[in-house]
Amino acid sequence: MRSRRGTYGLAVLTAAAMLAGCAAGGGGAQAGGALSGGGAEAAGGAQAGGAEASGSVQAGGLGQDAGSGVSETVPALWDVHTTQELMAADYLMYRVNCGAAEDAGGETGLYQTAADQPYGADAGTGRQWGYRPADYMQAVEDDTGDGLTRYRWEIGEDAEYDAEQTGFYYDFEVPAGTYGVTLGFYNPFSARTVTAEAENQTVMEDQKILKYQLTENAFYTTVTDGSLQLKVYNPDRGKDAMKNPVLSYILVRAVPEYTADLLKQLLKQTEIPENVIPDRQTMRYTAGSYEAFTEQYRAAEALAQKDDAPEEEYRGQYMALKEAYDGLEEIKVYDSFLPGKKWTDDEGNLIQAHGGQVQRLTVTDPATGQTAEKWWWVGEDKTNGSSRSGICAYSSDDLYNWHYEGIVMRNVESRAQLDEEEYFTSLYADYTPQQKDNVFACLDAGSAIIERPKLIFNEKTGMYVLWFHADGPTETSNSSYAAACAGVAVSDTPYGPFKFIDRYRLNTCPPDQEDFHPQSKGMARDMNLFVDEDGTAYIIYSSEENLTLYISKLNDEYTYLAVSPEQAVYGRDYIRLFPGAQREAPALFARDGGYYLMTSGCTGWAPNQARYYRADSVLGEWENCGDPCVGDDNHTTFESQSTCIFRVGDAFIYMGDRWNSEDLKNSRYIWLPVAFDEAGNMSISYTDEWKLP
Ligand code: DGJ
Repeated sequence: MRSRRGTYGLAVLTAAAMLAGCAAGGGGAQAGGALSGGGAEAAGGAQAGGAEASGSVQAGGLGQDAGSGVSETVPALWDVHTTQELMAADYLMYRVNCGAAEDAGGETGLYQTAADQPYGADAGTGRQWGYRPADYMQAVEDDTGDGLTRYRWEIGEDAEYDAEQTGFYYDFEVPAGTYGVTLGFYNPFSARTVTAEAENQTVMEDQKILKYQLTENAFYTTVTDGSLQLKVYNPDRGKDAMKNPVLSYILVRAVPEYTADLLKQLLKQTEIPENVIPDRQTMRYTAGSYEAFTEQYRAAEALAQKDDAPEEEYRGQYMALKEAYDGLEEIKVYDSFLPGKKWTDDEGNLIQAHGGQVQRLTVTDPATGQTAEKWWWVGEDKTNGSSRSGICAYSSDDLYNWHYEGIVMRNVESRAQLDEEEYFTSLYADYTPQQKDNVFACLDAGSAIIERPKLIFNEKTGMYVLWFHADGPTETSNSSYAAACAGVAVSDTPYGPFKFIDRYRLNTCPPDQEDFHPQSKGMARDMNLFVDEDGTAYIIYSSEENLTLYISKLNDEYTYLAVSPEQAVYGRDYIRLFPGAQREAPALFARDGGYYLMTSGCTGWAPNQARYYRADSVLGEWENCGDPCVGDDNHTTFESQSTCIFRVGDAFIYMGDRWNSEDLKNSRYIWLPVAFDEAGNMSISYTDEWKLP
């Protein structure tokens, strides 16, 4: 084990230790992910760089006179800095953003104030460091990168390349000691290899770097002469300029001696107040990250009591605590809408309420018995893909920050579950076995498609009624969208559980009109609800294989059509809209005595151009008013699909889904302000961030 004082001894480090040591450093957000890959390959270089410092290295830095820089005259790291000092700097001596302008911003190491510089005294710290300037070096800014990957050194294309000499040379003034060095590479070029020397020893050989993939390589090197020398080049470049080396960043870290004392210091540094989880106002960290952290904190506390554990053990625990501490995820508190960005709830989890609807409700919290007005968001939980989990609800006081209220209508895992699990046995206590068979067939978590849930409150019955697009295979078809029905469930509280009643085919094309899909009658897919001022509720849905929208009146309970399809009178009980126009994702709302209907085209999960319509009454004449999106050059409704437009005071908000068909749970929400001119024409413009008026 190396000595902590006096002349620096030999550093004998295993590859695993080296990897852990550098991983602890992290190297910033970008570095974290790739380090394990780079670190693994650094193994070979560990011994090479760490084993010995070259006696032939001239002290004094790049191009400087060697002077009398022998190891005895160079103070050791631990004589120059206290553990606390180094710890506060996260042991980072240099963090060089290669090729960056001086004002490139970002954090810097302890000995450095510029992002990068030619070799010389640092303007802030006086330490000698930097690169050796050469005509062939080109600093390049890359706007696909961020932070440390924003800039890099390249070799000019026309430069004469000398296999041994051409490269990037850096020198860093450091006290004698062992340092963990991480080199980062991020570039738009085809695959190539890079080699590095530290203290004249090859520490990284033929490291492969791939196009736009962050690659890191980490190694240890021991410095005795006060100056850490680095060279990054490609000796195998030959005549192929496509193999020129690049270099994005360099991290130089001091390597601590891992002891019980060091662990105690870290415990002191990472001590954080209790995460008061039950009180969401004061919860700062996501439950998962906080649990992981406390587990490591407790383990570190226990180990720090021992003073004779092997250094490996202190190191491992140090790293684990550090990693858990760095991994603490603060819960974001919002004060604006950020369309298209990750949106997390007040526990830090991604909001799962796709194809949803927001409204103002007076709700009584079943847990506290308190009644309050809340914004209420229902939507599809896509945690397990399509919509296997059920329908979720969230509540909010300000529309920016949402609290998860759970799954209000659960899908069913198996037929047996309906007879065995308390949730279902009490919910469906009065259902016959045949009715339960139907519940399972319609809500089967393995096959049912439950989309676009919409909730309305029935003043007369005091019940909350939830309608949704209920689809899935049928007895005659395996297609997951074969059923094409509208499902309905009820509860006496918006918190649920909602009890599934049934799913239905709805109205059909009258015989005197052209049916665009006569082979399958009464289909109902994308849907929405609307309750008019007089309390009449309507269901708006895509029918005729999504070619024609329908609006149908609901009964007084809102649980079925006002009149069955067989008895329904066209124009009184339902209407067809825009036959053959192929519209879906309807969102109907009223404003200033008129009615508006926002729609999308039908292109699966891919976004398409919006179109809206206006009418004087719900079952009246609807006029096509075109695309309300302004500046939507790609005609994709700002890459979203409508699901709801709701009123907030005098304002209206457009809610859309930006579907991620590859990973539906990671679909984003696009909420935008809706504007109206004096004639009542509606427009929606894009903005990255906005607040309520
Ligand atoms: C578009 C609909 O609007 C969505 O709800 C969903 O059903 C997808 N089609 C499936 O492709």
